[in-house]
Formats: sequence, structure tokens, C-alpha cells
Amino acid sequence: MYETKKEAALKTLENKQSKVVCNLEELKQSVEQRASAVRKSKEGAADLKKSFEELSKSLEDYEKDYQGVLAGKSSRNENKKCLEDQLGDAKGDVESVETELKQLKTKMLLRKSSKRKHGQKLKSLLHNSSIAPQCCPRVTSAMMVLESRPLVRLNCGITMPVLGMGTYSYENDKKTTELAIHTALKMGYSHFDTAKIYGSEPALGNALRKAFRDGVVAREDVWVTSKLWGSDHHDPVSALKESLKYLRMEYVDMYLVHWPVRLKPGASCAIPSEDEFEQILNMEETWEGMEKCLEMGMCRSIGVSNFSSTKIQQLLDYASVPPAVNQVEMHPMWKQDKLRSFCADNGIHVSAYSPLGGPGNAWGSTAVVEHPVIQSIAFKHNATPAQVALKWGLSKGSSLIVKSFNQDRMKENKAADRLKLGRDDIRAIDELEERKIMRGDHLINETTSPYKTLEDLWDDEI
Ligand SMILES: NC(=O)c1ccc[n+]([C@@H]2O[C@H](COP(=O)([O-])OP(=O)(O)OC[C@H]3O[C@@H](n4cnc5c(N)ncnc54)[C@H](OP(=O)(O)O)[C@@H]3O)[C@@H](O)[C@H]2O)c1
Repeated sequence: MYETKKEAALKTLENKQSKVVCNLEELKQSVEQRASAVRKSKEGAADLKKSFEELSKSLEDYEKDYQGVLAGKSSRNENKKCLEDQLGDAKGDVESVETELKQLKTKMLLRKSSKRKHGQKLKSLLHNSSIAPQCCPRVTSAMMVLESRPLVRLNCGITMPVLGMGTYSYENDKKTTELAIHTALKMGYSHFDTAKIYGSEPALGNALRKAFRDGVVAREDVWVTSKLWGSDHHDPVSALKESLKYLRMEYVDMYLVHWPVRLKPGASCAIPSEDEFEQILNMEETWEGMEKCLEMGMCRSIGVSNFSSTKIQQLLDYASVPPAVNQVEMHPMWKQDKLRSFCADNGIHVSAYSPLGGPGNAWGSTAVVEHPVIQSIAFKHNATPAQVALKWGLSKGSSLIVKSFNQDRMKENKAADRLKLGRDDIRAIDELEERKIMRGDHLINETTSPYKTLEDLWDDEI
């Protein structure tokens, strides 16, 4: 019995023990679970802390960026303001540089002139004369339109109407010439080209005098060019005085050396005889006389005509005032590419005479206006061959001296500017064969002329 009780108690104890063990095991598991949960929540907390730190960092970075953007914006505003200020300053600088350039150019002219002991006179001319050249800061032959007249600005600063009317005619009938000029003036022509040797100065003078008197036009609204003939190379001042007397005006707008040919005083024929040539050209002395004409206010600008680039280069070596213009034969069949490029490089404007090739002139030719390429372009544009030839000349930046005493053709020539030629048209004309019409054979001889051949006269530019 005892044994049984003992055993029963033992059994109870064993049961209790196994329960306790069980409980312990559960407790242990629960502790482990808690510990694991705590570990996990620690890790979570660490992760959370890390994320928080990262977030804080990116917030800081964002704030920095934002401040940077704000700062950038204000510095951009500052930059903009600064640039605006600089632009204002630059504009002011440009204006003062332009003024300085004007003054420098005037000074340069004066200094060069005073070298030749004429400085004082030129200074007073530039300051006092109402016809003083306006000095321009840049040498340019760019065309512009003023008062609806196309003009070209010359290197001395003054502007010249692009379309000029030639006044040479073989017949040289004073009444016809005068009437033609009168008609041209009413039509709006404002540039007239004459020369002592043409004999048209008196007719031009009369026509203009009447137009000024009748209020058709004012002196300052017309441009008159005249030219020094070879027999006057030794005394341009006296020659221009005589021209001015015929023209009945106080000044011409441009005075040109007609040809690089010096003749004996008194030689008055367009085709000089052999005994009228001077062997030595002495252009330095002639040009000094031309500059004197300018200083004296008898002309507003000076230039040359029929000069090769070689002769201009020689002239530039000693000229105090460079020529403003070189008036030469130029038309679709004598394009003057080399000369035009040389003149452009030296700020000299090329003016085209005989821009139609002089059809109807004894020495002229119908080769240009009758050329099939010119005719087909004219047909395509419903224009005339003359208009095509003239527009080609204008497209090269040249002014044109075209002669017509016929009212309809004057009108036609004036309207050439409105013609619109395409690039292909210009290219087709640029490709035409070349043929010089005014060759100057009459200035060549083997005995007395300094020019023995045409190549001598044109320095191989023929
Ligand atoms: N610096 C120099 O050495 C030099 C040399 C030569 C000429 N020039 C100057 O340049 C001017 C013009 O030269 P240029 O007369 O020899 O040549 P141009 O102007 O090419 O040709 C004039 C000839 O063409 C005719 N003509 C004019 N318009 C025409 C048209 N729309 N259709 C058909 N024919 C037309 C004229 O006759 P109508 O009058 O009957 O219309 C005249 O017979 C001269 O008067 C002179 O002032 C200067």
C-alpha cells in the first residue's frame, strides 16, 4: 500500500515535473519568440533610424538645392541686369567710336593734306563749306534707298544716286541734249554724267539752271560728274573752273580723271593725233591738282576713269585722298571681275559706263542687247534686253551711267531696278563670253604714246 502510495506520489511528482518541463519549454519558446521580436523590432528601429537619417539628409540636400536655385535665379537676374548695363555701355561705346572714327578720318585727311602744305585750306573747307563731304566711319559701297532713290555711299562719306544719265552723243546737239535732260529730271533722274570732251557741259548747265529756277529740283538734289581731259592734266584746277563756268554751277559732285593719258595743252580732240601725246604720264602731279580741286571746294569728290587695278595701286601709293570711284566700261559682256574685286578691297566704287554696250554709238555694239541669252532672260521676265543688262550691273553693286535721249527708253531704263532676276539668270549672264567694246585703240601708237599696245594701256587687264 505504502509502496503504492509512494509510487502514486512519485507518479504525481513525475507528472508535475513533466508539466513543469513542458511549461518551462513553452516559457523558453515564448522568451525566445519575444527575444526574436525584440531583436526584430530593434532591427526595424535601426532601419527606421537609418531611413530617417537618409530622409533628413535628402531633405538637407533638397534644401541646399532649393537655396541654390533661389540664389541662381537672383544671380541670373543680376546677370541680366549686368548684361543690359553692358549693352547700354557698348551702344555708347559704338557711338563714341563712330564719332572718333569720323574725327580721325577728318584729321587724317587734314594731316595728309597739310603734308602737302594745303592742310589749313582743307580744314576750313571741311568745317565751313556747305558742300563738305560727310565723313563716314566705314568704307562701304553698300547700296541704300533714300527718298526712294537708290544711292551708293562712297569712301569719302557722301552718297551718289545709283542710276546716272549719260550725256555723250556724237551729234552733240545742244537743244536735243537740253531737252533730254529736262525730260529726265522730270522723270526723277538725279545723276548726270558729262565731260569737257563730250561738249555737253553747256547743255547740262542750261537744263539744270532752268530746273533750279523753276523749282523742279534743287541743286543739292542732283549729282553732276564731269571729267578732266588729257590736255588739262597739267592744271586740273583751271580745267575744272572752266567746266564749272559751262555748267553754270559752283561745284560738281564728282570730278574724274577721264583717262590715264596726258596730252599736250590745247589738244581738244577725242581722238588725239600722234603729236599730241605726252610721253610721261606724271599722274602724281595730276592727282595733286585733283586734290587741290577738292580742297578748293570746286568738287565734293574725286576719282578716276578707265584705270586698271595696277594704275589705281600706283595712285594709292602717293594719293592723299584715294579715288572715290573708278568709272569703267562694264556690261554683261565685259564684267570687270578682277577690277571690281580690287576696287572693293580698296573701298573704291566701280561705276559702269556703256552698261548696254553702247548700241547705236559709232564705236559701240549691239552685241549685249542682241545676245540670245540676254534676250531669252528678257523674254522670260517680260522685260527688255536693256533692262536685263542694267539689272545685271546693279546686281554687282555698281552704279550705272546709261545714255538715252528717248523718253520711252529713259523710262524703260529707270524701271530696270524693279526687275527681279533669279540666281540662274545672273549665273547665265556671268558665263557669257567677254568682249571689250571701248578698247582705247586711239590712245595707242608706237611713237609718241606711252602705251605701245592695248596690254600696256590696260596693264594686261584686257
Ligand atoms: N568715262 C568714259 O570714258 C566713258 C566712256 C563712254 C561713255 N561714258 C559715259 O557713259 C554714258 C553711257 O555710255 P554709252 O552711251 O557709251 O553706252 P550705253 O548707255 O550703253 O548705250 C547708249 C546707246 O544705247 C541706246 N539705248 C539707251 N537705252 C536703250 C534701251 N533701253 N534699249 C535700246 N537702246 C537703248 C541709246 O540710244 P537712244 O539715246 O536713242 O535711246 C544710245 O545709242 C555716256 O553718255 C557717257 O556719259 C563714259
